[in-house]
Amino acid sequence: MSKDKLWGGRFTQPTDKFVEEFTASIEFDKRLYHQDIRGSIAHARMLGQQGIIPLEDVQAIVHGLQQILQQIEAGTFDFSISLEDIHMNIEARLSASIGEAGKRLHTGRSRNDQVALDIRLYLRDEIAAIVTYIDLLIDALLTQAEENLDVVMPGFTHLQTAQPILFAHHLMAYVEMFKRDRARLEDCLKRVNVLPLGAGALAGTTFPIDRGYVAEQLDFPAITRNSLDAVSDRDFALEFLAAGSILMMHLSRFSEELILWSTSSFRFIELSDGFCTGSSIMPQKKNPDVPELVRGKTGRVYGNLMALLTVMKSLPLAYNKDMQEDKEPLFDTIDTVKGSLKIFADMIREMRINAGNMRKAAGDGFSTATDVADYLVRKGLPFRDAHEAVGNAVKYCIENEMELDELSLAEWQLFSLHFADDIFAAITVEASTDARNVPGGTAREQVWGEIMRCREGK
Ligand code: ARG
Repeated sequence: MSKDKLWGGRFTQPTDKFVEEFTASIEFDKRLYHQDIRGSIAHARMLGQQGIIPLEDVQAIVHGLQQILQQIEAGTFDFSISLEDIHMNIEARLSASIGEAGKRLHTGRSRNDQVALDIRLYLRDEIAAIVTYIDLLIDALLTQAEENLDVVMPGFTHLQTAQPILFAHHLMAYVEMFKRDRARLEDCLKRVNVLPLGAGALAGTTFPIDRGYVAEQLDFPAITRNSLDAVSDRDFALEFLAAGSILMMHLSRFSEELILWSTSSFRFIELSDGFCTGSSIMPQKKNPDVPELVRGKTGRVYGNLMALLTVMKSLPLAYNKDMQEDKEPLFDTIDTVKGSLKIFADMIREMRINAGNMRKAAGDGFSTATDVADYLVRKGLPFRDAHEAVGNAVKYCIENEMELDELSLAEWQLFSLHFADDIFAAITVEASTDARNVPGGTAREQVWGEIMRCREGK
Protein backbone atom coordinates (compact mmCIF):
# COMPACT_ATOMS: atom_id res chain seq x y z
CA MET A 1 0.00 0.00 0.00
CA SER A 2 1.09 3.53 -0.77
CA LYS A 3 4.52 2.24 -1.65
CA ASP A 4 4.59 4.53 -4.69
CA LYS A 5 4.68 7.43 -2.23
CA LEU A 6 8.03 8.58 -0.90
CA TRP A 7 6.37 8.88 2.50
CA GLY A 8 4.25 5.69 2.22
CA GLY A 9 6.00 3.71 4.99
CA ARG A 10 3.57 4.36 7.84
CA PHE A 11 0.42 4.12 5.71
CA THR A 12 -1.69 1.04 5.10
CA GLN A 13 -4.37 2.53 2.84
CA PRO A 14 -3.87 4.32 -0.46
CA THR A 15 -4.63 8.03 -0.73
CA ASP A 16 -8.14 8.80 -1.88
CA LYS A 17 -7.95 9.76 -5.56
CA PHE A 18 -9.67 13.07 -5.12
CA VAL A 19 -7.57 13.90 -2.05
CA GLU A 20 -4.53 13.22 -4.15
CA GLU A 21 -5.68 15.68 -6.79
CA PHE A 22 -6.79 18.20 -4.21
CA THR A 23 -3.51 18.21 -2.32
CA ALA A 24 -1.14 18.00 -5.27
CA SER A 25 0.77 21.07 -6.36
CA ILE A 26 2.59 19.57 -9.33
CA GLU A 27 0.33 21.33 -11.85
CA PHE A 28 1.72 24.70 -10.79
CA ASP A 29 4.99 24.02 -8.96
CA LYS A 30 6.51 22.19 -11.89
CA ARG A 31 7.78 25.53 -13.03
CA LEU A 32 10.30 25.28 -10.16
CA TYR A 33 12.01 22.29 -11.78
CA HIS A 34 15.18 24.13 -12.66
CA GLN A 35 15.63 25.57 -9.19
CA ASP A 36 14.76 22.23 -7.59
CA ILE A 37 17.43 20.44 -9.57
CA ARG A 38 19.99 23.16 -9.03
CA GLY A 39 19.36 23.08 -5.27
CA SER A 40 19.55 19.28 -5.18
CA ILE A 41 22.87 19.23 -7.00
CA ALA A 42 24.34 21.74 -4.54
CA HIS A 43 22.95 19.72 -1.62
CA ALA A 44 24.33 16.44 -2.98
CA ARG A 45 27.78 17.92 -3.55
CA MET A 46 27.80 19.20 0.01
CA LEU A 47 26.72 15.79 1.35
CA GLY A 48 29.61 14.23 -0.57
CA GLN A 49 32.16 16.81 0.56
CA GLN A 50 31.14 16.29 4.16
CA GLY A 51 31.44 12.51 3.85
CA ILE A 52 27.72 12.09 4.58
CA ILE A 53 27.14 10.12 1.37
CA PRO A 54 29.72 8.37 -0.85
CA LEU A 55 31.28 10.43 -3.66
CA GLU A 56 30.23 7.83 -6.28
CA ASP A 57 26.65 8.45 -5.21
CA VAL A 58 27.11 12.18 -5.65
CA GLN A 59 28.32 11.60 -9.19
CA ALA A 60 25.37 9.37 -9.97
CA ILE A 61 22.95 11.89 -8.43
CA VAL A 62 24.36 14.84 -10.34
CA HIS A 63 24.34 12.94 -13.59
CA GLY A 64 20.83 11.61 -12.97
CA LEU A 65 19.52 15.07 -12.13
CA GLN A 66 21.07 16.55 -15.26
CA GLN A 67 19.31 13.93 -17.33
CA ILE A 68 16.01 14.70 -15.66
CA LEU A 69 16.58 18.38 -16.42
CA GLN A 70 17.04 17.55 -20.08
CA GLN A 71 13.92 15.39 -20.12
CA ILE A 72 11.82 18.12 -18.55
CA GLU A 73 13.14 20.68 -21.00
CA ALA A 74 12.56 18.34 -23.92
CA GLY A 75 9.00 17.77 -22.73
CA THR A 76 9.47 14.02 -22.28
CA PHE A 77 9.20 13.95 -18.48
CA ASP A 78 5.97 12.48 -17.22
CA PHE A 79 4.72 14.49 -14.23
CA SER A 80 2.58 12.47 -11.87
CA ILE A 81 -0.15 13.78 -9.61
CA SER A 82 0.29 10.91 -7.21
CA LEU A 83 3.82 12.16 -6.61
CA GLU A 84 2.23 15.38 -5.38
CA ASP A 85 4.80 18.05 -6.16
CA ILE A 86 7.90 18.89 -8.17
CA HIS A 87 10.24 17.81 -5.37
CA MET A 88 8.89 14.27 -5.16
CA ASN A 89 8.40 13.93 -8.91
CA ILE A 90 12.07 14.60 -9.47
CA GLU A 91 13.31 12.58 -6.52
CA ALA A 92 11.20 9.55 -7.40
CA ARG A 93 12.38 9.64 -11.00
CA LEU A 94 15.97 9.94 -9.83
CA SER A 95 15.68 6.86 -7.63
CA ALA A 96 13.94 4.99 -10.40
CA SER A 97 16.77 5.74 -12.76
CA ILE A 98 19.87 5.48 -10.55
CA GLY A 99 18.60 3.32 -7.67
CA GLU A 100 20.14 3.41 -4.13
CA ALA A 101 22.16 6.58 -4.67
CA GLY A 102 19.02 8.51 -5.58
CA LYS A 103 17.46 7.53 -2.28
CA ARG A 104 20.40 9.13 -0.42
CA LEU A 105 19.78 12.61 -1.88
CA HIS A 106 17.20 13.63 0.70
CA THR A 107 19.61 13.00 3.62
CA GLY A 108 19.65 15.98 5.99
CA ARG A 109 16.96 17.81 4.06
CA SER A 110 13.19 18.19 4.16
CA ARG A 111 10.72 19.34 1.56
CA ASN A 112 10.09 22.23 3.90
CA ASP A 113 13.52 23.78 3.52
CA GLN A 114 13.69 22.50 -0.06
CA VAL A 115 10.56 24.35 -1.20
CA ALA A 116 11.66 27.53 0.57
CA LEU A 117 14.95 27.28 -1.31
CA ASP A 118 13.28 26.69 -4.66
CA ILE A 119 10.97 29.67 -4.32
CA ARG A 120 13.83 31.95 -3.30
CA LEU A 121 15.96 30.82 -6.24
CA TYR A 122 13.05 31.29 -8.60
CA LEU A 123 12.02 34.70 -7.31
CA ARG A 124 15.59 35.91 -7.35
CA ASP A 125 15.82 35.36 -11.11
CA GLU A 126 12.37 36.77 -11.76
CA ILE A 127 13.15 39.95 -9.82
CA ALA A 128 16.21 40.42 -12.02
CA ALA A 129 14.03 39.94 -15.12
CA ILE A 130 11.42 42.40 -13.86
CA VAL A 131 14.10 44.99 -13.12
CA THR A 132 15.26 44.64 -16.73
CA TYR A 133 11.71 45.28 -17.95
CA ILE A 134 11.45 48.33 -15.69
CA ASP A 135 14.65 49.63 -17.27
CA LEU A 136 13.17 49.13 -20.74
CA LEU A 137 10.08 51.09 -19.78
CA ILE A 138 12.18 53.88 -18.23
CA ASP A 139 14.23 54.00 -21.40
CA ALA A 140 11.09 54.34 -23.54
CA LEU A 141 9.87 57.17 -21.31
CA LEU A 142 13.20 58.98 -21.43
CA THR A 143 13.25 58.72 -25.22
CA GLN A 144 9.76 60.22 -25.50
CA ALA A 145 10.71 62.93 -23.01
CA GLU A 146 13.84 63.81 -24.98
CA GLU A 147 12.01 63.88 -28.30
CA ASN A 148 9.17 66.02 -26.99
CA LEU A 149 10.97 68.43 -24.73
CA ASP A 150 9.17 71.41 -26.28
CA VAL A 151 5.68 70.04 -25.88
CA VAL A 152 3.54 71.89 -23.34
CA MET A 153 0.40 70.34 -21.89
CA PRO A 154 -2.07 71.31 -19.19
CA GLY A 155 -1.17 70.03 -15.75
CA PHE A 156 -4.22 69.02 -13.72
CA THR A 157 -5.27 68.89 -10.12
CA HIS A 158 -8.72 67.41 -9.41
CA LEU A 159 -8.64 66.72 -13.16
CA GLN A 160 -9.23 70.47 -13.62
CA THR A 161 -6.72 72.51 -15.62
CA ALA A 162 -4.18 73.82 -13.13
CA GLN A 163 -0.93 75.09 -14.66
CA PRO A 164 0.92 74.45 -17.92
CA ILE A 165 3.65 71.81 -17.64
CA LEU A 166 6.02 70.15 -20.04
CA PHE A 167 4.74 66.85 -21.38
CA ALA A 168 8.26 65.57 -20.69
CA HIS A 169 7.84 66.60 -17.05
CA HIS A 170 4.71 64.48 -16.84
CA LEU A 171 6.52 61.49 -18.32
CA MET A 172 9.42 62.03 -15.94
CA ALA A 173 7.00 61.79 -13.01
CA TYR A 174 6.43 58.18 -14.08
CA VAL A 175 10.16 57.66 -14.42
CA GLU A 176 10.46 58.62 -10.74
CA MET A 177 7.74 56.11 -9.81
CA PHE A 178 9.35 53.29 -11.76
CA LYS A 179 12.73 54.09 -10.27
CA ARG A 180 11.21 53.69 -6.82
CA ASP A 181 9.63 50.42 -7.92
CA ARG A 182 13.02 49.21 -9.03
CA ALA A 183 14.60 50.26 -5.74
CA ARG A 184 11.83 48.48 -3.81
CA LEU A 185 12.42 45.26 -5.74
CA GLU A 186 16.17 45.50 -5.29
CA ASP A 187 15.65 45.98 -1.59
CA CYS A 188 13.25 43.03 -1.42
CA LEU A 189 15.90 40.97 -3.18
CA LYS A 190 18.14 41.30 -0.10
CA ARG A 191 15.59 39.31 1.91
CA VAL A 192 14.94 36.84 -0.92
CA ASN A 193 18.63 36.16 -1.32
CA VAL A 194 19.15 34.14 1.88
CA LEU A 195 19.72 30.37 1.94
CA PRO A 196 17.08 28.44 3.95
CA LEU A 197 18.43 24.95 3.18
CA GLY A 198 19.76 23.26 6.29
CA ALA A 199 16.69 24.08 8.37
CA GLY A 200 15.45 20.52 7.79
CA ALA A 201 11.80 20.00 8.59
CA LEU A 202 11.92 22.69 11.28
CA ALA A 203 14.72 22.06 13.77
CA GLY A 204 17.91 21.64 11.74
CA THR A 205 19.55 18.30 11.05
CA THR A 206 21.67 15.74 12.89
CA PHE A 207 24.12 15.46 9.97
CA PRO A 208 27.30 17.56 9.86
CA ILE A 209 26.18 19.65 6.89
CA ASP A 210 28.06 22.69 5.59
CA ARG A 211 25.51 25.37 4.88
CA GLY A 212 28.19 27.82 3.85
CA TYR A 213 29.28 25.52 1.05
CA VAL A 214 25.72 25.20 -0.24
CA ALA A 215 25.30 28.99 -0.04
CA GLU A 216 28.51 29.45 -2.00
CA GLN A 217 27.46 27.05 -4.74
CA LEU A 218 24.08 28.72 -5.08
CA ASP A 219 25.39 32.29 -4.80
CA PHE A 220 23.61 33.22 -1.61
CA PRO A 221 25.37 35.98 0.32
CA ALA A 222 23.71 34.89 3.60
CA ILE A 223 22.04 31.93 5.32
CA THR A 224 18.91 31.94 7.50
CA ARG A 225 19.69 32.10 11.23
CA ASN A 226 16.75 30.21 12.71
CA SER A 227 15.49 26.91 11.36
CA LEU A 228 11.88 27.49 12.44
CA ASP A 229 11.79 30.87 10.77
CA ALA A 230 13.55 29.52 7.68
CA VAL A 231 10.69 27.12 6.87
CA SER A 232 7.86 29.39 8.08
CA ASP A 233 8.91 32.62 6.46
CA ARG A 234 7.19 33.91 3.33
CA ASP A 235 7.83 37.59 4.09
CA PHE A 236 10.12 37.80 1.09
CA ALA A 237 7.27 36.68 -1.18
CA LEU A 238 4.85 39.11 0.46
CA GLU A 239 7.31 41.94 0.02
CA PHE A 240 7.57 41.07 -3.62
CA LEU A 241 3.78 40.97 -3.97
CA ALA A 242 3.54 44.34 -2.24
CA ALA A 243 6.22 45.86 -4.47
CA GLY A 244 4.43 44.35 -7.48
CA SER A 245 1.13 45.84 -6.31
CA ILE A 246 2.60 49.32 -5.99
CA LEU A 247 4.19 48.96 -9.42
CA MET A 248 0.85 47.94 -10.92
CA MET A 249 -0.81 50.86 -9.16
CA HIS A 250 1.60 53.13 -11.02
CA LEU A 251 0.90 51.37 -14.31
CA SER A 252 -2.84 51.67 -13.68
CA ARG A 253 -2.58 55.44 -13.16
CA PHE A 254 -0.54 55.73 -16.32
CA SER A 255 -3.07 53.53 -18.16
CA GLU A 256 -5.90 55.73 -17.01
CA GLU A 257 -4.13 58.82 -18.35
CA LEU A 258 -3.34 57.19 -21.68
CA ILE A 259 -6.99 56.17 -22.01
CA LEU A 260 -8.12 59.69 -21.20
CA TRP A 261 -5.56 61.30 -23.50
CA SER A 262 -6.69 59.09 -26.38
CA THR A 263 -10.35 60.14 -26.14
CA SER A 264 -11.80 62.39 -28.82
CA SER A 265 -12.28 65.07 -26.17
CA PHE A 266 -8.56 65.18 -25.36
CA ARG A 267 -6.74 63.89 -28.43
CA PHE A 268 -3.37 64.42 -26.75
CA ILE A 269 -1.86 61.16 -27.95
CA GLU A 270 -2.50 58.38 -30.37
CA LEU A 271 -1.65 54.82 -29.44
CA SER A 272 -0.43 52.80 -32.37
CA ASP A 273 -2.95 50.47 -34.01
CA GLY A 274 -1.11 47.41 -32.77
CA PHE A 275 -2.12 48.24 -29.20
CA CYS A 276 -5.79 48.90 -29.87
CA THR A 277 -8.82 47.05 -31.19
CA GLY A 278 -11.93 48.04 -33.05
CA SER A 279 -15.59 47.61 -32.25
CA SER A 280 -17.76 45.00 -33.91
CA ILE A 281 -20.63 47.50 -34.24
CA MET A 282 -19.21 51.04 -34.18
CA PRO A 283 -16.93 51.49 -37.19
CA GLN A 284 -15.25 54.63 -35.86
CA LYS A 285 -13.96 53.04 -32.67
CA LYS A 286 -10.34 52.42 -31.78
CA ASN A 287 -10.24 51.14 -28.26
CA PRO A 288 -7.17 51.41 -26.00
CA ASP A 289 -7.38 47.76 -24.94
CA VAL A 290 -3.83 47.44 -23.71
CA PRO A 291 -3.92 50.19 -21.09
CA GLU A 292 -7.44 49.13 -20.13
CA LEU A 293 -6.31 45.58 -19.56
CA VAL A 294 -3.23 46.61 -17.59
CA ARG A 295 -5.52 48.79 -15.44
CA GLY A 296 -7.77 45.77 -14.98
CA LYS A 297 -4.95 43.37 -14.20
CA THR A 298 -3.91 45.59 -11.32
CA GLY A 299 -6.87 44.08 -9.50
CA ARG A 300 -5.55 40.53 -9.64
CA VAL A 301 -2.10 41.65 -8.47
CA TYR A 302 -3.63 43.36 -5.41
CA GLY A 303 -5.71 40.20 -4.93
CA ASN A 304 -2.57 38.06 -4.95
CA LEU A 305 -1.05 40.15 -2.16
CA MET A 306 -4.26 39.88 -0.12
CA ALA A 307 -4.46 36.14 -0.81
CA LEU A 308 -1.00 35.36 0.51
CA LEU A 309 -1.29 37.73 3.48
CA THR A 310 -4.48 35.89 4.37
CA VAL A 311 -2.91 32.46 3.88
CA MET A 312 -0.10 33.42 6.25
CA LYS A 313 -2.30 35.10 8.81
CA SER A 314 -2.31 33.32 12.20
CA LEU A 315 -0.38 30.30 10.91
CA PRO A 316 1.41 28.61 13.79
CA LEU A 317 5.11 27.86 13.29
CA ALA A 318 6.56 26.11 11.42
CA TYR A 319 5.53 24.73 7.98
CA ASN A 320 1.83 24.20 7.35
CA LYS A 321 0.32 22.80 4.18
CA ASP A 322 -1.56 26.08 3.81
CA MET A 323 1.70 27.50 2.59
CA GLN A 324 1.50 25.52 -0.61
CA GLU A 325 -1.01 28.21 -1.57
CA ASP A 326 1.85 30.70 -1.82
CA LYS A 327 2.83 29.68 -5.32
CA GLU A 328 -0.08 30.52 -7.58
CA PRO A 329 -0.42 34.12 -6.41
CA LEU A 330 3.31 34.56 -6.62
CA PHE A 331 3.58 33.12 -10.12
CA ASP A 332 0.55 35.05 -11.29
CA THR A 333 1.99 38.34 -10.06
CA ILE A 334 5.35 37.60 -11.68
CA ASP A 335 3.67 36.85 -15.02
CA THR A 336 1.30 39.80 -14.85
CA VAL A 337 3.93 42.35 -13.84
CA LYS A 338 6.38 41.13 -16.46
CA GLY A 339 3.76 41.09 -19.21
CA SER A 340 2.40 44.51 -18.28
CA LEU A 341 5.84 46.13 -18.18
CA LYS A 342 6.89 44.59 -21.47
CA ILE A 343 3.78 45.65 -23.34
CA PHE A 344 3.89 49.11 -21.78
CA ALA A 345 7.47 49.76 -22.87
CA ASP A 346 6.56 48.91 -26.48
CA MET A 347 3.36 50.94 -26.35
CA ILE A 348 5.13 54.04 -25.00
CA ARG A 349 7.84 53.77 -27.61
CA GLU A 350 5.23 53.74 -30.40
CA MET A 351 2.87 56.34 -28.96
CA ARG A 352 2.35 59.44 -31.11
CA ILE A 353 2.06 62.88 -29.52
CA ASN A 354 -0.39 65.55 -30.72
CA ALA A 355 1.68 68.51 -29.61
CA GLY A 356 -0.73 71.07 -31.07
CA ASN A 357 -3.74 69.79 -29.14
CA MET A 358 -1.75 69.62 -25.94
CA ARG A 359 -0.46 73.14 -26.32
CA LYS A 360 -3.90 74.49 -27.10
CA ALA A 361 -5.38 72.79 -24.05
CA ALA A 362 -2.44 74.04 -21.98
CA GLY A 363 -3.55 77.63 -22.60
CA ASP A 364 -7.24 77.00 -21.88
CA GLY A 365 -8.96 77.18 -18.54
CA PHE A 366 -7.03 80.21 -17.26
CA SER A 367 -4.03 77.97 -16.74
CA THR A 368 -1.65 80.92 -16.40
CA ALA A 369 -3.65 82.66 -13.67
CA THR A 370 -0.96 81.80 -11.11
CA ASP A 371 1.64 83.38 -13.41
CA VAL A 372 -0.39 86.60 -13.47
CA ALA A 373 -0.54 86.59 -9.69
CA ASP A 374 3.22 85.95 -9.48
CA TYR A 375 3.71 88.85 -11.95
CA LEU A 376 1.87 91.22 -9.63
CA VAL A 377 3.91 89.95 -6.68
CA ARG A 378 7.08 90.80 -8.58
CA LYS A 379 5.62 94.31 -9.04
CA GLY A 380 5.35 94.61 -5.28
CA LEU A 381 1.82 93.43 -4.47
CA PRO A 382 1.37 90.99 -1.54
CA PHE A 383 0.43 87.51 -2.89
CA ARG A 384 -3.06 87.50 -1.33
CA ASP A 385 -3.94 90.83 -2.97
CA ALA A 386 -2.52 89.63 -6.26
CA HIS A 387 -4.66 86.44 -5.97
CA GLU A 388 -7.74 88.59 -5.44
CA ALA A 389 -6.99 90.86 -8.42
CA VAL A 390 -6.42 87.91 -10.77
CA GLY A 391 -9.56 86.23 -9.46
CA ASN A 392 -11.48 89.32 -10.56
CA ALA A 393 -9.82 89.20 -13.97
CA VAL A 394 -10.81 85.54 -14.37
CA LYS A 395 -14.39 86.37 -13.41
CA TYR A 396 -14.38 89.15 -16.02
CA CYS A 397 -13.10 86.70 -18.65
CA ILE A 398 -15.77 84.13 -17.81
CA GLU A 399 -18.50 86.78 -18.08
CA ASN A 400 -17.13 87.95 -21.42
CA GLU A 401 -16.23 84.49 -22.73
CA MET A 402 -12.55 85.30 -23.11
CA GLU A 403 -9.23 83.80 -22.13
CA LEU A 404 -6.62 85.76 -20.13
CA ASP A 405 -4.39 86.25 -23.16
CA GLU A 406 -7.20 88.05 -24.97
CA LEU A 407 -7.39 90.92 -22.44
CA SER A 408 -6.08 94.32 -23.57
CA LEU A 409 -3.78 96.35 -21.33
CA ALA A 410 -6.68 98.68 -20.53
CA GLU A 411 -8.72 95.69 -19.40
CA TRP A 412 -5.85 94.35 -17.28
CA GLN A 413 -5.58 97.73 -15.61
CA LEU A 414 -9.20 97.47 -14.49
CA PHE A 415 -7.91 94.94 -11.94
CA SER A 416 -4.57 96.48 -10.99
CA LEU A 417 -2.57 99.51 -12.06
CA HIS A 418 0.59 97.41 -11.69
CA PHE A 419 -0.14 95.79 -15.05
CA ALA A 420 2.08 97.00 -17.88
CA ASP A 421 3.04 95.93 -21.38
CA ASP A 422 5.23 93.08 -20.17
CA ILE A 423 2.16 91.17 -18.94
CA PHE A 424 1.60 89.68 -22.41
CA ALA A 425 4.95 87.92 -22.56
CA ALA A 426 4.60 86.73 -18.97
CA ILE A 427 1.50 84.66 -19.58
CA THR A 428 2.34 82.47 -22.55
CA VAL A 429 2.38 78.79 -21.66
CA GLU A 430 6.10 78.64 -22.51
CA ALA A 431 6.88 81.56 -20.20
CA SER A 432 4.81 79.87 -17.55
CA THR A 433 6.71 76.58 -17.67
CA ASP A 434 10.12 78.20 -18.12
CA ALA A 435 9.54 80.38 -15.08
CA ARG A 436 9.36 77.32 -12.82
CA ASN A 437 13.08 76.94 -12.83
CA VAL A 438 13.60 75.32 -9.43
CA PRO A 439 14.98 71.82 -8.84
CA GLY A 440 12.11 69.45 -9.54
CA GLY A 441 10.19 72.13 -11.43
CA THR A 442 8.78 71.98 -14.96
CA ALA A 443 11.20 74.45 -16.63
CA ARG A 444 12.91 73.02 -19.70
CA GLU A 445 16.31 73.38 -18.14
CA GLN A 446 15.26 71.42 -15.06
CA VAL A 447 13.47 68.69 -16.99
CA TRP A 448 16.39 68.27 -19.37
CA GLY A 449 18.75 68.07 -16.39
CA GLU A 450 16.60 65.29 -14.87
CA ILE A 451 16.50 63.37 -18.14
CA MET A 452 20.29 63.56 -18.30
CA ARG A 453 20.64 62.46 -14.68
CA CYS A 454 18.48 59.40 -15.43
CA ARG A 455 20.44 58.68 -18.59
CA GLU A 456 23.56 58.61 -16.45
CA GLY A 457 21.85 56.03 -14.24
CA LYS A 458 21.32 58.37 -11.27
N1 ARG B 1 4.38 21.07 -2.17
C1 ARG B 1 4.71 21.56 -0.89
C2 ARG B 1 4.54 23.08 -0.88
O1 ARG B 1 4.49 23.63 -1.90
C3 ARG B 1 6.13 21.25 -0.53
C4 ARG B 1 6.40 21.18 0.95
C5 ARG B 1 5.64 20.04 1.54
N2 ARG B 1 6.01 19.79 2.87
C6 ARG B 1 5.29 18.97 3.63
N3 ARG B 1 5.69 18.79 4.82
N4 ARG B 1 4.17 18.44 3.21
O2 ARG B 1 4.45 23.73 0.14
